[in-house]
Amino acid sequence: MGAYEDVYKRSLDDPETFWAAAAEDVVWQKRWDQVLDNDREPFTRWFVGGKINTCHNALDRHVEEGRGDQAALIYDSPVTDTVSTFSYSELRDQVALFAGVLRKYGVEYGDRVIVYMPMVPEALVTMLACARIGAIHSVVFGGFAANELAKRIEDSTPRLVVSSSCGIEPGRIVDYKPLLDGAIDISKHKPETCIILQRPMQEAALVEGRDVEWSVAHDGASPAGCAEVDATDPVYILYTSGTTGVPKGVVRPTGGHTVALKWSMKNIYGVDPGEVYWAASDVGWVVGHSYIVYAPLLHGCTTLLYEGKPVGTPDAGALWRVISQHKVSCMFTAPTAMRAVKKEDPDGKLLTRYDMSHFKSQFLAGERCDPDTLQWTEQILKVPVIDHWWQTETGWPIASNCIGIEALPIKPGSPTAPVPGWDVRVLDSDCKPVAQGEIGAISIKLPLPPGALSTLWQNDDRFVESYMRAYPGYYQTGDAGVIDENGYLHIMSRTDDIINVAGHRLSTGGMEQVLASHPDVAECAVIGAADKLKGQVPLGFLVLKDGVGRAHDQIVADVIRMVRQEIGPVAAFRQAVVVNRLPKTRSGKILRGTMQAIADNHDYSMPATIDDPAILPEITIALKGLGYAGD
Ligand code: COA
Ligand code: AMP
Repeated sequence: MGAYEDVYKRSLDDPETFWAAAAEDVVWQKRWDQVLDNDREPFTRWFVGGKINTCHNALDRHVEEGRGDQAALIYDSPVTDTVSTFSYSELRDQVALFAGVLRKYGVEYGDRVIVYMPMVPEALVTMLACARIGAIHSVVFGGFAANELAKRIEDSTPRLVVSSSCGIEPGRIVDYKPLLDGAIDISKHKPETCIILQRPMQEAALVEGRDVEWSVAHDGASPAGCAEVDATDPVYILYTSGTTGVPKGVVRPTGGHTVALKWSMKNIYGVDPGEVYWAASDVGWVVGHSYIVYAPLLHGCTTLLYEGKPVGTPDAGALWRVISQHKVSCMFTAPTAMRAVKKEDPDGKLLTRYDMSHFKSQFLAGERCDPDTLQWTEQILKVPVIDHWWQTETGWPIASNCIGIEALPIKPGSPTAPVPGWDVRVLDSDCKPVAQGEIGAISIKLPLPPGALSTLWQNDDRFVESYMRAYPGYYQTGDAGVIDENGYLHIMSRTDDIINVAGHRLSTGGMEQVLASHPDVAECAVIGAADKLKGQVPLGFLVLKDGVGRAHDQIVADVIRMVRQEIGPVAAFRQAVVVNRLPKTRSGKILRGTMQAIADNHDYSMPATIDDPAILPEITIALKGLGYAGD
C-alpha cells in the first residue's frame, strides 16, 4: 500500500484517532472532552468541550515560538505601487490593537462583524481581530452590489461593519462607501458602527454618529488578548450562492477549521513553516479565507496579499514577477488566471525575465481545469501543476494530489483522489453507488471531517434541505462526476443552477430573479455557456409580455444594467437575447440543460418530456446570434 492509500484508509477507519493526532499540532487553551460527537447527525461536532483561539494559533504562538521577526504577511499591490511586509510580531500587535478597537465599539464574543473591503492588509487584520475576541466575521466580496451586501447584513445582523472608501480595479476606482451606505439603507438591520479605512485614491464622506475613520477608531484603544473560544462555535460565516437569489451563510466551526487547515498545509500542499505561500484569490472567497489568511499563518508560513490581476497590472508576467520577487514556493489560483496569461503570452516569454528557482508547485481550483490549461501551465512553469477540488462549504480540499503525503501521477482533467478525511462516493438517484466509470452525484459519506460547515447561519432546516436530504447519510456536493479505474475523480458539472464564472460561483436563479423584475419581461432563463477565458459566462433569454413595443436591444441593455446594479459587476452578465418562447417540459420546467448543451455545441438527446421540440431551432438561432452553438 502506498503512503497516500495508507493515510487515506486510516482517516476513514478511525477518524477520531486520526484527527486527535492532527489536533496535537495546534495550541489548545483547554483540550477537548470528546473528539467527535455525531449523535445528532448531520450536526456533527468535532473537539467538543475544547477551547481554542484561531488568532493565537495564527500569530501569538509563532511569536512565542521564535518566529516574531519572520515575515507573516507581504502586501504586494501593483495598483497602488506598494510592497510592504509585516513580521509576525508586527501583525500580532496590529491585530491585538484592532481587537481592542472592536471591543471599544462594543463588539463581544459571538457578535457578527461584516467586512466589506478590498485586498488591503486591514482586511486580514480585521478578520484576525474578530477571531481574537471570539467575534464572527462575515466577509463580503467587493464585486457585489449594495443589494447583495444588504442581504448579508440582514441575515447576519452585524453589530459593526468594517469597510473602505474604495477598491481599485484596473482602469477604475470602485466606490465601496456609497455601496455600503446603500446596503444599510435597504437592510432592515442597521449596524451600530462602521469603521472606514480612508484610502487616498478616493476618500468617502462619513455618516455622523455611525461612521468612524480607521485611524481615529484606534484612539484610546488598548490591545486585547485572545478569548477562549469554544471549538464548536463559529469562527466565521461566509455567504455563497445557492440555487435561489438568497445566499447561504456557511458556518465554519473554530476548532475543526484550525486543525484541518493546519494539517492541509504540509499534507496537501507539501509546504513547510517559513516558506512563502501565495493564494492569488480575494479575501471575499473561501480560497481567500482558507489560503490567504488562515492556513498559511496557522502553519507559520509567509502569506502574500496581492492587490492586482494576472494580466494588465502591468502585463501577463505579473504572477511570475510576484513569485520571483517574494521567493514564493507554492502558489494557488484559478485556471481562469492561467488562461488569461496564456492568451496574452502564449509562449510564456515573460517568464524568462524572472528567477523562479524557489518555486516548487502550482495549485489550481475554483472551477473545472481543462487539460489544455493544465498542460500549458506545466510546460511553461516546469513544476507539478495540481488541480484540486473543493467548495465554500467544505472549507478545504476534498480531492487533490496530496504531494506532502505522496505525489501520485497527474492526470489532466482530474483533481486526483479524495483527500484523507473525505469519504467520497458517486451515487445514482436511488442513493446507490454507480458502477465504476459511470457518472453520478458526487456525495460524501457522513460524518464530514473537521473544518467542513457545521450548518447554515440560523437556518438548520435549509442546511438539511440543501445538503443532507437528497442522499440520506451523505452530504450532497452539487457536483456530478466519475471515479475512474484508477480511483481518480473527475468533476464534470453542477447538478443545480450554479455556474462558475472566472472561478466565481454564481446563481443563475439569482440572475433570473433580476431579469424577471423588468416590467416588460414575462419569462426568462439564464444559463452558463462555455467561455474560453472565464470557463463559463451567463446568457439571458427573455420572453416579453404581449404588446411590448420597445426595441429589444433597449430591453437587453436594461437587464444587463439591472444585474450589474443588483448583483454586481462580478456576475459578468453581458449578454441576453429576446426569444418568443422557452423550451419546457410538459409540466412547465424550463429545459436549461438542453439550452446549455446547444450553446456549447454538445450532443444532446431530445428530452422525452419536451413540450414542443419545434422551439429548439429558434433557440439555436438566438444562440448563434450571440456567437454560440458552434458559431
Ligand atoms: N471589486 C469590485 N469589482 C470587481 C472585483 C472586486 N474585488 N473583482 C472583480 N470585479 C469586477 C471587474 O472589475 C469586472 O468589472 P467590469 O465589468 O467593469 O470589467 C467584473 O467584476 C468582472 O470581473 P472578472 O470576471 O474577474 O473579469 P475581469 O475581466 O475583470 O478579469 C480575470 C478576468 C481572468 C483577469 C480575473 O477573473 C482573474 O484574475 N481571475 C483569477 C481567478 C480568481 O481570482 N478567482 C477567485 C477564486 S479562486
Ligand atoms: P466555491 O464554493 O465558490 O469554491 O465553488 C465550488 C464549486 O466550484 C464546486 O462545487 C465545483 O462546481 C467548482 N469547482 C471548484 N474546484 C473545482 C475543480 N478543481 N474542478 C472542477 N470544479 C471545481
